Amino acid sequence: MSGKWAVQGTAFYSADWDKAVCIKNGLFCIDEKGFIEGVYKEEDKAYKTVREKYLADGCLKILGETEAMLPGFVDLHLHAPQWPQAGTALDRPLEVWLGEYTFPLEAKYRDLEFAYKVYQDVVKTTLSHGTTTALYFATVDREPSVLLARLCGELGQRGLVGKVVMDDPAANPGFYRDASWEDGVKETERFIDEVLEFQDSFKQRVYPVITPRFIPSCTDESLKGLGKLAGKYGVHVQTHCSESDWEHQLVKERYGVNDAQALNRFGLLTDKTVLAHAVFLEMEDVKLLAEKKASIAHSPLSNAYFAGSVLPFREFRDQGVNIGMATDISGGYSPSLYHAQRQAVISSRMLNEGADPGLPAGSRGRKDSAIALNHAFYAATVGGGTALGLKVGKLEKGYSFDVQIVDYGEGIPRFCPEKREEDLLHKILLLTESRSIKEVWVQGEKVK
Ligand code: GUN
Ligand code: FE
Repeated sequence: MSGKWAVQGTAFYSADWDKAVCIKNGLFCIDEKGFIEGVYKEEDKAYKTVREKYLADGCLKILGETEAMLPGFVDLHLHAPQWPQAGTALDRPLEVWLGEYTFPLEAKYRDLEFAYKVYQDVVKTTLSHGTTTALYFATVDREPSVLLARLCGELGQRGLVGKVVMDDPAANPGFYRDASWEDGVKETERFIDEVLEFQDSFKQRVYPVITPRFIPSCTDESLKGLGKLAGKYGVHVQTHCSESDWEHQLVKERYGVNDAQALNRFGLLTDKTVLAHAVFLEMEDVKLLAEKKASIAHSPLSNAYFAGSVLPFREFRDQGVNIGMATDISGGYSPSLYHAQRQAVISSRMLNEGADPGLPAGSRGRKDSAIALNHAFYAATVGGGTALGLKVGKLEKGYSFDVQIVDYGEGIPRFCPEKREEDLLHKILLLTESRSIKEVWVQGEKVK
């Protein structure tokens, strides 16, 4: 939309960790740059006059009776090139899945036509599920990775994209790795420069991300080189961290410390670092993350398959670590952050209560581990925005107008009135599928 405009309707968003708010029939005013410049509740004095002004100017959009606005979701970790194998081979262990399925698939993106076809579908699909901001792993090759960033820009998604570095000849197949550690670092720098050059040509902007795949696939030299780039450019950093027993053990044997400590030695732990999984962090690592203000991308579906475990979300969060939600396509099979939130709650309850019925009740689980849906909703919106340092995830003044408009008249039983406003939000979060997400807006522009 060009110029100022406003939306009138009901909205839900997460104001705080356990507080979701409902603004019934609110007025959300959007400026030329796509930011929210004012929010009025029905009972506010100015509501009527402001509303009439927008109405008279022909710039007021009024939501339908069974429509509600939610903030767009932030997917804090997913692999765009793995979309063709979503739902495949999750019965294999991580290290087998990587070698037999994932690396051969990721190598195919040197074919730019193939890359274009898949990446376009990934961006459109995630947008249609309400994901307005996405932190992507691309592949080792720079050109298709730049293409992904450009496509996010063109299709209106706030994409943060990384060219993957995996340079260790002892750990990666000859057909799919950086030619050398120097090459991995040089190609990353060129990738950053190329994306920064067109970053501002898109209203919602796109961002380059420094992306060592994970410690086991990188040499000390490339990790050191990438740490230097993180210092030089101040851009985002992403990697996998303490994600499975196999991976966690490898790093321990190599450095005598866990991933988080090792990444920190290489300068890769900043307030713009996002660590995928981080299931097996020890308390020392958790404290380090909190101190460095690095965030965790929580992908509970993927953790169920590859970690065979559950992130102690509640405990890590109580130690001051920011956590966002992620699909981890295709370690997680679903492109929907609704599904990720649902699984996060389910997994945390199983961690809390314990899952082995052979043990006596009360001694099966890890106490105080359960999270509520409000917490997952916070992570999928505000947690993600905080991790990336972006003004997204809330429907408040100063935030980008990134929203999804859901028709809760479809697929959600409403034969009896809900007792609390929150009950309706919970129904929406647990029952919405992409077909009832009627519109998606990013930075004030309609993208679905
Ligand atoms: N660890 C290293 N690479 C990957 C990947 O592509 N997916 C997941 N889930 N874990 C990884
Ligand atoms: Fe991943």
